[in-house]
Amino acid sequence: MTVKQFACKASEVPHEAAKIVPFGKFSIGIFKLNDGYHALLNICPHRGAALCEGPVCGTTKTTDAREFVYEREGELIRCAWHGWEFDIRTGEFLVDPAIRARRFPVTLEGDDIFIHV
Ligand code: FES
Repeated sequence: MTVKQFACKASEVPHEAAKIVPFGKFSIGIFKLNDGYHALLNICPHRGAALCEGPVCGTTKTTDAREFVYEREGELIRCAWHGWEFDIRTGEFLVDPAIRARRFPVTLEGDDIFIHV
């Protein structure tokens, strides 16, 4: 059974950064992407840093040519401690999708964002 919990006002969520909201003894990052709002537990699965306080970013694509191609701008969160990058929508670590940041379903009702835990 999930519990619906108010997180914050949608108008409080900045672009290209998380709105950090309290969640018991922990906190959750609320992100605004072009397809809506997303929520991740503010704990990195690597060593427990405050994941959602890292930069929202893209990543460098692997190519066959000797060039750098930057992609997925604004879709990833990079942990500030060791640089692991996670997909904000799924919580998946880019290098190994079996490692995930915990995500929560989000609903929007008017200007209110709710997480479902
Ligand atoms: S604690 Fe997040 S990458 Fe190491």
